[in-house]
Amino acid sequence: MKIYRTGIVGTGFIGKVHLETVRRLGNVEVVAIADNCQAKEAAEALNVPNYFADYKEMIEKMDLDMVHICTPNFTHFEIAMYAMEHNVNVICEKPMATSIQEAGLMLEKAKEKGLVAAVNFHNRFYPMTNHLMNIIKDGELGNVFSITGSYCQDWLLYPTDYSWRLISSQSGNTRAVADIGSHWMDLAEFVSGQKITAVCADFQTIYETRKKPNKQVLAFSTEKFSEEDYTEIPIDTEDNAHILFRFSGGAKGSAFISQVIAGKSVAIDLLVGGYEKSAEWNSADVNSLEIGVRDDSTRHVEKGGATVHRNTLPYIGYPFGHAEGFADAFKQGFREIYESIDNREKQYQYATFEDGVHEMVLCEKIFESSKEQKWIDIPDA
Ligand SMILES: NC(=O)c1ccc[n+]([C@@H]2O[C@H](COP(=O)([O-])OP(=O)(O)OC[C@H]3O[C@@H](n4cnc5c(N)ncnc54)[C@H](O)[C@@H]3O)[C@@H](O)[C@H]2O)c1
Repeated sequence: MKIYRTGIVGTGFIGKVHLETVRRLGNVEVVAIADNCQAKEAAEALNVPNYFADYKEMIEKMDLDMVHICTPNFTHFEIAMYAMEHNVNVICEKPMATSIQEAGLMLEKAKEKGLVAAVNFHNRFYPMTNHLMNIIKDGELGNVFSITGSYCQDWLLYPTDYSWRLISSQSGNTRAVADIGSHWMDLAEFVSGQKITAVCADFQTIYETRKKPNKQVLAFSTEKFSEEDYTEIPIDTEDNAHILFRFSGGAKGSAFISQVIAGKSVAIDLLVGGYEKSAEWNSADVNSLEIGVRDDSTRHVEKGGATVHRNTLPYIGYPFGHAEGFADAFKQGFREIYESIDNREKQYQYATFEDGVHEMVLCEKIFESSKEQKWIDIPDA
């Protein structure tokens, strides 16, 4: 079995999830990590043999097959370009970059070098979202006319909650939309097979200023400090986005995206309406799917070898009754991405840099739409 040599850049919240889940594949060795703040501590805690403060040094010295980019959004471009320039395949966290221009250049470089270049839209890889995609493709719901839902969180509810994500120079023009709306839109398009062709958005920022801690805090930290340990800063990104969509197959839709709804730590809902049936997937119960039928009782389909679409079977890790969650979805996505390094002809379901560019266009057009308060078409949708 070929063992792939991997380096992970960024060992905050999601870098650790990458590290843990990619190790579960069995054919990947995480030979190094790079982090400009905590490389040594992370390497010791996670038992990684090599660590670097500078990702460039890691890429130059470690003879890598793959780099996972798990750093703040504004760093994705330079790290991905450097890795690809050195002929290393890339798995980039979402959003792919902070602008359409950067994302476009990243796609061009991946094509020029013939590399695997993926974006980690992991919600595609829950068995039941995959099942939903397959039954829609088979026509089980009938033609789909509506795609609606929400993605809510609450970790930025208080004015003392802080993250680099709040600042547009680090997050991109949008925050909630780029951070979690991009997941919802990717999932909606993936399961329905319909692309978003036009958007109309209205943003809301509930705090015009926030209190930034004077020391570094990791994402989702609930640490509290005394008054003098904060600096008041202006906020130029949205807490809430209300968005209407038109889809390429004729469906219409809407989504509420928020990072300030108390009690909703991570709550994703997707409701698809078809002429025959409806289907609803919710992140509170990722292992089931609700199928709505007008003249019969609602069916709860549970993840299992006997219950899911045959094309979903490869995305199930454990037998019926054994829950699979967030980390398992990462593992399934990484399995496909690594398989594609040496098997390029097969069709894969992971998000590519093409999909990442499309998501950047959606984020940017949603931003413009809210600013101009009007519908905006998505070019080349
Ligand atoms: N797929 C998902 O569900 C998911 C979930 C969370 C975050 N993310 C994405 O992952 C990325 C990181 O988010 P996070 O929540 O882990 O952030 P974080 O703030 O918890 O961690 C970022 C880490 O990157 C390091 N870092 C920053 N700049 C660096 C550089 N130039 N070189 C090396 N290391 C650097 C920091 O020291 C920190 O350890 C973001 O793009 C985010 O959108 C994706």
